[in-house]
Amino acid sequence: MKKVVLAYSGGLDTSCAVRWIRDTYGAEVVCFSAFIGEVADRKLLAKKARSAGASKIYIEDLKAEFARDFIVPALWAHAKYEGKYPLATSLGRPLIAKHLVRIAEKEKADCVAHGCTGKGNDQVRIEVGVKTLNPKLKVIAPLREWSFNSREEEIDYAKQHAILISATKKSPYSIDKNIWGIAIEAGVLEDPWKEPPEDAYLMTRPLARVPKKPLYVNIGFKGGIPVSLNGKPMVLVALIERLNQLGGQYGVGRIDQIENRLVGIKSRELYEAPAATILHLAHEELESLVTDREFFHYRRVLSEKYSELVYYGLWFTPLREALDQFFATHQKRVTGVIRVRLEQGNAIVVGRKSPYSLYSEKLATYSAKDEFDRTAAEGFMKIWGLPYEGRLKK
Ligand code: ARG
Repeated sequence: MKKVVLAYSGGLDTSCAVRWIRDTYGAEVVCFSAFIGEVADRKLLAKKARSAGASKIYIEDLKAEFARDFIVPALWAHAKYEGKYPLATSLGRPLIAKHLVRIAEKEKADCVAHGCTGKGNDQVRIEVGVKTLNPKLKVIAPLREWSFNSREEEIDYAKQHAILISATKKSPYSIDKNIWGIAIEAGVLEDPWKEPPEDAYLMTRPLARVPKKPLYVNIGFKGGIPVSLNGKPMVLVALIERLNQLGGQYGVGRIDQIENRLVGIKSRELYEAPAATILHLAHEELESLVTDREFFHYRRVLSEKYSELVYYGLWFTPLREALDQFFATHQKRVTGVIRVRLEQGNAIVVGRKSPYSLYSEKLATYSAKDEFDRTAAEGFMKIWGLPYEGRLKK
């Protein structure tokens, strides 16, 4: 091992990892930090990485790419793992894998490294991604290899080696955050019967503190992409961040879930995903207005498979790419406006319109304007029920 590119967050684990890799493998360490959620202080991040012994650090704001190439396909697929988790972390990992490989190639490094634990899904997503994109690269996962048994031991190690670490008190939870949502686990949450304490949530307000008056938001879509809020055009990242704020104020998008991890265990996870919750709801509602019944139903079957692929770390695979093409076929029609009411922790669709709408008031109405040919109904049922006629006759 000569040169290693490490996915670096600036936290205690990856800071210790810089020095640990240098000492254990005698390799030069280049750090790579991606912003796909909060934008951190670049200067501080670089200072920390250098104090730990990094020779160089790449700091890149990848939010726009994350939104365009990962969030949009997931939105089109209505991807929610086990019907609930909108996959924020799962979508961020292949992006990180892609850039780790790009930088490793640019730096002529022979290895990449990450700070994932040996028990989670994230190691799979990064390593399978890296292996798919460049099988020559070796991968090191210090957290699976080193002998530190506690946070305190890592802090001692950092102190011994004059590695700069944040003085802020560590949250009792393990948190991963990006613009598509926050994942919160561990600590008291490990007891699945215990209600999450209010301090576990970072982005959403409790119902006791949400505004009394509901808030209406009109979300405009063009070709399947959310493009405006209340008539005002917005770039996707800004629109997502704004919906996180508004939804968060109304307590929208809290998810408390037992989930089946890829590594075989069940875990209790909390998620906060106001924007993802609202956009999935709105996009699916618009889709139901502009696509026919069979298409709409079959699409839902494929959503289930797609969510699994994303969760299982199989982003860079032929099936995921093929499914993306399927979901893309009808997005041109997913153009229009969805009106959503935010109220008491809920997002509720209250109105929809589209130039591609298949809804016909003349056919649906119960009023005198009705044009539905009810004389045809009798014949329809005769033939529709024909295969079953008399089947259960006693
Ligand atoms: N369970 C979720 C997933 O597998 C979230 C993982 C969060 N990661 C973390 N390091 N806290 O996608």
